[in-house]
Amino acid sequence: MAKARTQFICQNCGTVHSRWAGKCDACGEWNTIVEEDPTGGIGGGPGRQPKNKGRAVALTTLSGEIEDAPRILSGISELDRVTGGGIVRGSALLVGGDPGIGKSTLLMQAASALARKGHSVIYVSGEEAVAQVRLRAQRLNAADTDVKLAAETNIEDILATLSMERQRPDLVILDSVQTLWTDSAESAPGTVTQVRAAAQSMIRYAKSTGAAIVLVGHVTKDGQIAGPRVLEHMVDAVLYFEGEGGHHYRILRTVKNRFGPTDEIGVFEMTSDGLREVSNPSELFLGERNESAPGAAVFAGMEGTRPVLVEIQALVAPSSLGTPRRAVVGWDSARLSMIIAVLEAHCGVRLGQHDVYLNVAGGYRITEPAADVAVAAALVSSLAGLALPPDCVYFGEVSLSGAIRPVAHAAQRLKEAEKLGFKSAVMPKGSQDVSEASRKTSAEIADLPDLVARIAGGKLLTRERDNDEF
Ligand SMILES: Nc1ncnc2c1ncn2[C@@H]1O[C@H](COP(=O)(O)OP(=O)(O)O)[C@@H](O)[C@H]1O
Ligand SMILES: [Mg+2]
Ligand SMILES: [Zn+2]
Repeated sequence: MAKARTQFICQNCGTVHSRWAGKCDACGEWNTIVEEDPTGGIGGGPGRQPKNKGRAVALTTLSGEIEDAPRILSGISELDRVTGGGIVRGSALLVGGDPGIGKSTLLMQAASALARKGHSVIYVSGEEAVAQVRLRAQRLNAADTDVKLAAETNIEDILATLSMERQRPDLVILDSVQTLWTDSAESAPGTVTQVRAAAQSMIRYAKSTGAAIVLVGHVTKDGQIAGPRVLEHMVDAVLYFEGEGGHHYRILRTVKNRFGPTDEIGVFEMTSDGLREVSNPSELFLGERNESAPGAAVFAGMEGTRPVLVEIQALVAPSSLGTPRRAVVGWDSARLSMIIAVLEAHCGVRLGQHDVYLNVAGGYRITEPAADVAVAAALVSSLAGLALPPDCVYFGEVSLSGAIRPVAHAAQRLKEAEKLGFKSAVMPKGSQDVSEASRKTSAEIADLPDLVARIAGGKLLTRERDNDEF
């Protein structure tokens, strides 16, 4: 019989290393590698003989009946859209996020909404005592709903409890997965081995009974506790709940979904009596605009099926440092470097001696390249000290040659902008499906020099040599 060997597992990404090291070379995190006994982990421990000799299954064809995955809808539309139309029965959903961001709040609200619609929901809290969960339920006006509650962390006890239920539950929430532990794994609760083994048991329960499960996972910073990333490949769908410190907005983002698209977001606002759905996020993100200040451009973006307008703010200031500062919040910093390089190379806009700060308003995070034109507009506006017209939106992708490429859903972006009172748009030449009326009020531009000339005229070019003025 093979001797049980301990393994060294990164608690951040789950990579198995043959020896301990200070830094995980797979994900680059420090102090995340922990020694674990793999017994009972995924794939079973060493020395176990398989009892099952194998059973033949019937092979089938690619064509044939397709059934829609049966789903349970919470009625919280921001949540239902992000899950792709409701939580699928028998599936496992992982909800990750920083501690304190509002995961328990969201799931308690979802649980009570489902219970109100007649679904049977069980909430297992491994982190908080029953009294604490009740207190939250009261604050969320959920205390009168028929959600069944347990404070428990042992998987075997949880499964035994679930099997005692006369009626199979529709949904079981496990908050959080890091507190769960199973007798079949030796390592301490919170380690990758334990968290994965516990999740595996619950996923098996979901598949065999048809109950949906939700695993809550804290994003961990210290690296000694397994993070939700180590479970992403095991579950059917992964949602992350995000928010910026100081802001009340919370964004629920799909990262993986076997039963739906992965580019949807749900927007919520944290209030004293729980999370409130924000059905028009643009109004929220544009709420604190300062229209007369240079350096602010409104981006007409898309998140999945929904248009979202958000303000991009740039501050360009002469740098006293040898290497000027580049700081970005809410966008990709490599993308910013590219836009700066294209402005320098093709538009004669000199930013090499300037610090550049870029911020997406409202703690929102943009992933679309369509924001390029809005970013460039904000940068040029700040450098030139000229405010952009307050009733104009910007979108379009910039290529390395300085050309501006059309992006998808131009018509939808324009419609949302119009709905919110914007009168014009700067968009790529050749944008599809745009109405004649919109074309009349918009500027269709072919390249970045075109944009710079439109915003700053000759200002940046003529004063190119005395940069100190800006
Ligand atoms: N009594 C309260 N009144 C108002 N807001 C509260 C109260 N208690 C908690 N909150 C809000 O709920 C958040 C914690 O949410 P919670 O769902 O427990 O987070 P998580 O489960 O992600 O750790 C806090 O950051 C705070 O914004
Ligand atoms: Mg919690
Ligand atoms: Zn790692």
